[in-house]
Amino acid sequence: MSFAVVRAALRRAPVNAARAPRAFRNPAFRRYSTEAAPKKSNAALFAGLAALTAAGGIGYYVYASESNTAKEAGTAIKSGVQSAKAATKLVPTKEDYQKVYNRIAEVMDEAADIDYDDGSYGPVLLRLAWHCSGTYDKATNTGGSNYATMRFAPESLHSANAGLQVARAVQEKIHQEFPWISYGDLWTLGGVCAIQEMGGPKIPWRPGRIDGFAEQATPDGRLPDGAKGADHLRNIFHRMGFNDQEIVALSGAHALGRCHRDRSGFDGPWTFSPVTVSNEYFRLLLEEKWVWRKWDGPKQLADKTTGTLMMLPSDYALVQDKTFKKYVQAYAKDQDLWFKDFANAVSHLFELGVPTSQFVASEPWIMKNTDEK
Ligand code: HEM
Repeated sequence: MSFAVVRAALRRAPVNAARAPRAFRNPAFRRYSTEAAPKKSNAALFAGLAALTAAGGIGYYVYASESNTAKEAGTAIKSGVQSAKAATKLVPTKEDYQKVYNRIAEVMDEAADIDYDDGSYGPVLLRLAWHCSGTYDKATNTGGSNYATMRFAPESLHSANAGLQVARAVQEKIHQEFPWISYGDLWTLGGVCAIQEMGGPKIPWRPGRIDGFAEQATPDGRLPDGAKGADHLRNIFHRMGFNDQEIVALSGAHALGRCHRDRSGFDGPWTFSPVTVSNEYFRLLLEEKWVWRKWDGPKQLADKTTGTLMMLPSDYALVQDKTFKKYVQAYAKDQDLWFKDFANAVSHLFELGVPTSQFVASEPWIMKNTDEK
């Protein structure tokens, strides 16, 4: 189905981007547009194979254009390139990662040129970073951001990941410019960049994730379902190792972005400023009167005052559950407190599933914002 067809049916909500910290070139209302990730050409793959073979890295692959084997071969080439660079002492420095961060920040704003959503790819890049990390299961030590397995079907097709092909395509473009970076590092760095560049706190981050294979993907059902309530949130997030306070802190990410009819089925933004990281999500949850929206879509809430904002049943659970509500109240009152707790929880989230020995630094780094250069 063409996204353009669905786009025509989308209900637009008023968006106040006045507080957005980045100077979007066209901060007015955005429409929605998307493209599938460009397929890598066979020529590029064979060129990569030839280069690697020449370097003595890998001599033989079975290759079939649309198969996982081909994609895995592609992954292996990249891993091979990474090792080759390491072998020739071309080990990327913090400055190299900062260049990637800066480029992501630039590309994020290119969304305005094609009238994408609210003028930034930031929210969808953050959602990609979170969905690649949030598959982690503490009990079995599987999932998480280490192998970037969402590049492969069936994980790329899991319903929770609908729409993330947009973010993967944006990141693919960056990867072509910086082929030495692993996808897990790139995607999580994208999440860090989105939060920092949209006015949020610094997110401590360090590289070290490696590209994996389709076999390392986790089964469907590990990410939360917006139609469900407090018990479900606890099951999902406690499995990752998070506590109740961290569940609430992480949920504040919904200050950003919006729901899309053709992705999750839900519709609309949570706040009036969906390209700005702020504690507005918590304030609105508490202070607005939320009513069930009357429509033919899935059950969701609308603010009584304007009818243009939304809350998922899972968001609303945060004010229905006593323990969760305590944290919502604290964060609504004190943005600095939320920034601190959010930064800690997100930093931890992005490292789930990555063995400590793989990280290139013993402590996470603080990447510079683009306006700090
Ligand atoms: C608490 C459980 C959560 C549930 C049930 C949930 C569910 C959803 C749903 C249904 C959407 C709409 C997708 C679409 O239609 O495009 C969404 C979007 C989003 N989520 Fe969550 N989410 C949760 C937690 C999180 C966390 C922990 C983060 C990040 C730390 C996050 C970041 C985002 C962002 C930034 C968007 C907007 C994406 C865009 O504008 O394209 N979410 N989420």
